[in-house]
Amino acid sequence: MTESTYKNWRIERDSDAIVWLHLDKAGSATNVLSSDVLEELNAILDPFISEEPRGLIILSGKPNGFIAGADINEFVPLKEPAEALALIRRGQKACDKIAALKCPTVALIHGFCLGGGMELALACRYRIADDDARTRLGLPEIKLGIHPGFGGTVRLPPLVGAPAAMDLMLTGRAIDTRAAKKMGLIDYAVPTRHLKRAARGVVMNPPAPHRPKGWLALTNNSLVRPLLARTMRAKVAEKAPAAHYPAPYALIDLWQKHADNPARMMDEEAASVARFVLGDTAHNLVRVFFLQERLKSLGKKELIAPRHVHVIGGGVMGGDIAIWCALQGMRVTVQDRKHETLAKVVKRAYALYKKRLKQPRLIQAALDRLIPDDKGVGVSHADVVIEAIFEDIAAKQNLYREIEPKLKPGALLATNTSSIPLEVLSEALANPSRLVGLHFFNPVAQMQLVEIVSSPITDPGVARQAAAFTRHIDRLPLPVKSSPGFLVNRVLMPYLLEAVTLEWEGVPATVIDKAALDFGMPMGPIRLADTVGLDICLSVAEILSQRLNVDVPPRLRELVSAGRLGVKSGQGFYTYHGDKPQMPRLKPGYVPPSDVAERLILRFLNEAAACLREGVVADADLLDAGVIFGTGFAPFRGGPINYVHESGVETQRKKLQALEEHYGKRFVADAEWVEL
Ligand code: NAI
Repeated sequence: MTESTYKNWRIERDSDAIVWLHLDKAGSATNVLSSDVLEELNAILDPFISEEPRGLIILSGKPNGFIAGADINEFVPLKEPAEALALIRRGQKACDKIAALKCPTVALIHGFCLGGGMELALACRYRIADDDARTRLGLPEIKLGIHPGFGGTVRLPPLVGAPAAMDLMLTGRAIDTRAAKKMGLIDYAVPTRHLKRAARGVVMNPPAPHRPKGWLALTNNSLVRPLLARTMRAKVAEKAPAAHYPAPYALIDLWQKHADNPARMMDEEAASVARFVLGDTAHNLVRVFFLQERLKSLGKKELIAPRHVHVIGGGVMGGDIAIWCALQGMRVTVQDRKHETLAKVVKRAYALYKKRLKQPRLIQAALDRLIPDDKGVGVSHADVVIEAIFEDIAAKQNLYREIEPKLKPGALLATNTSSIPLEVLSEALANPSRLVGLHFFNPVAQMQLVEIVSSPITDPGVARQAAAFTRHIDRLPLPVKSSPGFLVNRVLMPYLLEAVTLEWEGVPATVIDKAALDFGMPMGPIRLADTVGLDICLSVAEILSQRLNVDVPPRLRELVSAGRLGVKSGQGFYTYHGDKPQMPRLKPGYVPPSDVAERLILRFLNEAAACLREGVVADADLLDAGVIFGTGFAPFRGGPINYVHESGVETQRKKLQALEEHYGKRFVADAEWVEL
């Protein structure tokens, strides 16, 4: 028998009086816990209080997963604390009703089970997930500047023990079914085809619910909590300063103070999330979430069906691009003139796959997809060909002449060049409109962004296919114009060079880096330059200096000629042991100049404004998105252009003017400031 009065839920009662509650959110490809979904759920659950079914099984009607979380769109218009509180309470109430049922309750999970969806699953007595590689469970709220708010902070620590629970909530990372089973987050991991049978089995013969064992059972004890909380705070502080990211600290406080009193903790949880959701950090992190969605939407997967990728050049970039594509399921041939280089690629691949895939069977399968190809046989079979050889016009052009006749009709031909205009490279092609830039960033496995570079003659259809390709390999496409440095290197360079100038003037590298970290950058500019390689910085700076308002500081040349190239040579601005820099101590009594941060950040902002004026990207939001995902620019500030608006266009412009008077033309405000 089915009851069909609800828009988003389908209720099915089977012959054993078990209720199967299917969530299939109307008009959406993904299940989210929007207000209407929660209201209906509350209404559905009410009659169960007086008339309990034999069991309740909650499952999803969507192929892509269980529930992706609360509806983030509903956060945006919130203005009043009371509104925010009401929204959170509605979610808590539904979860509480499920938790209060005496009959067995089961969340049946496949695909995404995140945020509010995970919290709903936590309110059930049992959780069963399929062991599919795509299934992911987690509580990513912290990434939006809040913490779990539908009872997750109350229910998770007693279920799996405080260390694992708090780690999951404080990092916001999503885990696979195996890890979830090991942790106790789910009770059973079964093949997809057995999900329903497993759920019915649990309802008919309910086992004892999961509880942490041994020392884990003690981790929520009031005597232990202060100690653990201190360690947690210290760990969080390494990544997220309290001034910029208050939510993780509030989460630790919440647990430390109230873990003995679930009812009180539930109230405090709601009050805390209601406060954060209206704050600046959450506001900007939600903005970043939507920017990411926008980037994703720029790559329409259906425009290309890449099965075989051929990468030419197995160096730093080509090797890593090939390794990444094979990890993402593509068959990849990687070509290089040198056997040793290809051997190194396979070695690097093994290291990454071991870390990411863990299971020997999956590691072997990924390695089997990555085929060293010194003869370049793959070029004529590939759907996508990516060139990543030396940054040399003649070498690249010669290569294109040689391979163009061999390409499969319709194959995508892309270059990873970081500085040569596409219109120059494509002169060597019989069909110059087919060349597009796929500009990856180093390290490929960590940097989500890929710039999709078009010259005036690039076929727009080809650029769209290139963007689509990045979605097949789980990267974010950013369409940019073929102009010097594209977007990311261009905005970074003046900022890095200002750092080099400051160091040359005698400001210690650690002081410069700290100023940027305090602003919210993920890494200081001096350390970043060392990590990228000072030779690479120098070559990009030289190219940009020919066209833009950029002077190359002599200090950079000096270090490069002395062979101090940064991390890779063991010495750059810092001295390295492995990839860890040795931090020199400051002289006692040293007082840094007061404008270090301003000089760094304003050069960054000024270049961002110039890129906007020149149309390097289509609009300000895309600029912010590209800069956040390509450079790690302080996400809680919502991107450079957003930051200019929030901190005051006039204020920042005046600061620029003052810097110009003091330091000269490199601080001349770009004409775009008037438009801003
Ligand atoms: P690399 O010097 O590490 O690697 C280049 C590889 O190409 C070498 O292994 C070389 O043996 C091979 N090669 C050269 N000519 C060849 C040919 N005709 N056929 C087959 N293999 C050939 O250089 P890297 O750093 O990987 O740079 C490659 C490209 O990626 C350049 O265009 C560079 O501008 C771009 N790029 C570099 C980034 C970086 O951080 N290193 C970042 C983004 C783009």
